[in-house]
Amino acid sequence: MQGRKVIITGVPGVGKTTVVNEALKKLKSEGVVYQSINFGTFMFDVAKSDNVVQDRDQMRNLDRAVQKHLQQRAAQEIAKVTGNVLIDTHASVKTPKGYLAGLPEWVLREIMPDVIVLVETDDDQILMRRLNDETRARDKEGSRAIGEHQQFNRSIAAAYAMITGCTVKIVINADFLLERAADDMANVLR
Ligand code: AP5
Repeated sequence: MQGRKVIITGVPGVGKTTVVNEALKKLKSEGVVYQSINFGTFMFDVAKSDNVVQDRDQMRNLDRAVQKHLQQRAAQEIAKVTGNVLIDTHASVKTPKGYLAGLPEWVLREIMPDVIVLVETDDDQILMRRLNDETRARDKEGSRAIGEHQQFNRSIAAAYAMITGCTVKIVINADFLLERAADDMANVLR
């Protein structure tokens, strides 16, 4: 049987990886198995071997043509994976020259997702999570800019649905309500 392809998106620091990991723990006991893939890691592996960056947070500042090349190579590798696949990525990437589509047509046509999930929460909660995360070089921006990015992601997700016929699901990952977000995510994956 052909597996399901689920794309998980959300602005940096919204907690998409945290929600996915909690949801996968719940599903394991039911025998529902997904291979979890981080799109950024695939891109980073290519970027490192090409010697263009030293850490993953530098990728969004690369020249647009370089980012597109990395995207394409990552998408081609991911398309080869069979079974249920969960792809942790970005609906759009904030670059110094504006928003870059995370899933442009040539990436979507490689992957052809069944569902795109947008993980969201209040802009100020995301701001606080970024400030408290010392493990990453997060972009410094205010809650208004974070709100603009979340809004842009909804718009571009609608365009992705038009191209592929996939559904778009919004999962809210609010402070103190991780459990609820993980349940919502698990329902999408079942
Ligand atoms: P990637 O590594 O995916 O970057 P990211 O968005 O920063 O992803 P993270 O997994 O680090 O953050 P998260 O939102 O999942 O939050 P987390 O769970 O850690 O991508 C790296 C780079 O690759 C991108 O910058 C880009 O350049 C490139 N890239 C990727 N895909 C691309 C594409 N398609 N096209 C082009 N480029 C692409 O949680 C964050 C914090 O919040 C943690 O401290 C956590 O404890 C806390 N938290 C989580 N949930 C809650 C909660 N409910 N309450 C309180 N705190 C919470």
